Amino acid sequence: MKGYFAVGVEGVSKARNLGAVMRTAHAFGASFIFSIKAEDRARELFQTDTAKTAINLPYYAWDSLDEMVLPRDCQLVGVELTDEAIALPSFRHPRAAAYVFGPERGSLSPALLERCAHVVQIPTKFCVNLSVAAAITLYDRTVNLGGFPERPVRPGAPHESKDHVWGPPKKRT
Ligand SMILES: C[S@@+](CC[C@H](N)C(=O)[O-])C[C@H]1O[C@@H](n2cnc3c(N)ncnc32)[C@H](O)[C@@H]1O
Repeated sequence: MKGYFAVGVEGVSKARNLGAVMRTAHAFGASFIFSIKAEDRARELFQTDTAKTAINLPYYAWDSLDEMVLPRDCQLVGVELTDEAIALPSFRHPRAAAYVFGPERGSLSPALLERCAHVVQIPTKFCVNLSVAAAITLYDRTVNLGGFPERPVRPGAPHESKDHVWGPPKKRT
């Protein structure tokens, strides 16, 4: 995967879903995880995430949006079903990105959306489960930046890539 990414949530309404988000982030190769205004539910999160992501990856728990500090050049990407958001299939993922999701019974706050470099939406008729949204977003990133061979035109596996063979030296006149 080119670059790195982080996954976080603003608020929590169902800790079980949050555990699933963190586990998904870990499985896809996140470099760190974070939460904003969710620390009071962190104990439940640790219990629901069987991959114990919060002790295997750096976990930043910010009590407010003002406390949030991301690494330099890391772009905040809000994932929310809004009319103005960029459709995920057409989105170019930043190499260094921090994806942030809203709570199960709510949405990303206007203040957080304001801080985002980009807001993306998954083209669905209505909101999907929070951990499903995280999995779709990270799968899309993996398809785009994961370094996989192009899909073939015909159904089936991609063609075997042939070993590179150097050509003869070129003489410039
Ligand atoms: C279940 S949704 C919240 C409920 C939703 N606000 C509603 O109107 O019912 C929880 C979070 O999942 C993410 N999410 C779910 N479906 C999404 C979609 N189609 N596009 C982008 N984000 C989505 C967003 O981060 C959202 O805040």
